[in-house]
Amino acid sequence: GKGNYRHFMEKELHEHPAVIGDTLRQYVDPASRAVARPQLPFDPATLPRLWLSGCGSAFLVGQTARYWFESLARLPTDCDVASELRYRDPPLTEGGAAMFVSQSGETADNLAAMKLLRAGGQSLVSVVNVPESSMARESDATLMTVAGPEISVASTKAFTAQLSVMACLAINFARARGAIDAAEEARLTHALLEVPEHAARILDATAEIEAVAADILDARDVLFLARGSLFPIAMEGALKLKEISYIHAEGYAAGEMKHGPIALIDSKVPVIALCPSGPLFEKTASNLQEAAARGGRIIAFTDEDGAVALRRFASRVVVLPKVDPFVAPILHTIPVQMLAYYVAVLKGTDVDQPRNLAKAVTVE
Ligand code: M6R
Repeated sequence: GKGNYRHFMEKELHEHPAVIGDTLRQYVDPASRAVARPQLPFDPATLPRLWLSGCGSAFLVGQTARYWFESLARLPTDCDVASELRYRDPPLTEGGAAMFVSQSGETADNLAAMKLLRAGGQSLVSVVNVPESSMARESDATLMTVAGPEISVASTKAFTAQLSVMACLAINFARARGAIDAAEEARLTHALLEVPEHAARILDATAEIEAVAADILDARDVLFLARGSLFPIAMEGALKLKEISYIHAEGYAAGEMKHGPIALIDSKVPVIALCPSGPLFEKTASNLQEAAARGGRIIAFTDEDGAVALRRFASRVVVLPKVDPFVAPILHTIPVQMLAYYVAVLKGTDVDQPRNLAKAVTVE
């Protein structure tokens, strides 16, 4: 049941800390702060290339993981939506592998993409939340998320559980490939293990997110901007907002603004930025300043250090805990999903059963 919550989505949002913690405990040994070697059909040390596939939010997990696998593990990685990958007929590298992300494990296009890559000689791994699912059965190895049943059509806790698995794999692959040492592994797993506590703090700051929801309630279009591994999370924020509040939203790489979308900007188009301090801060902040100069209302999610500069031109700044940039995508997921939820509640939509959508898309 929903317990004391109004919707399953609200209940499941509040399960983020527990689910991230439970999933991390499957993969990280807290004593040694090392990622336990996952059961895989390939050797990450010599893997020439990895394909990632998913649909909707699961695809965005793949996109985030691609940043991690490339930059941390130095592993050539491709990622596509399953409905395209299955028709792309890409040249496949001998000895390559593919990973398929899915909450349900039943998504038709992802299953079809699996079969294509199997026929192309790739070894297959599924990252699923349902152990008995079709995708788990089709793959050579299954990595489980420990999210528990997810009822709300809009995915929440399954998404952060999937990110947690991918983050652990990125660390493990990076070690296996000699890209990081044991000390760096310990530092990164430590940052991951602190995420549940930070997530709980964000979930407590309901009033702040509700205020942002009220800010954007009447908008027809909303832009979500970010750079790097947070770019897919901007797309996740936009996807969730479309899905349950029926407001048109797009996630954009902040640097792409000036190549088109900036033409849309006026005082009626809220610009939501994921912009924590770190190596990409200055560039992102200057993109936001350009939008503000054109009358855009900037709503920024950042940390204490980033807030100082952003307050000069943003109409609202939400301060999140300061974390290592590696774990920032997991943490930033929570406020953007909360935001979609509170907008939907204010609009009075059918939050758990949005129109035209199904929890598992078993048709192509
Ligand atoms: O069960 P799956 O993870 O394969 O589902 C994939 C998508 O259908 C799913 O993530 C969809 O985009 C969600 N409704 C997003 O909230």
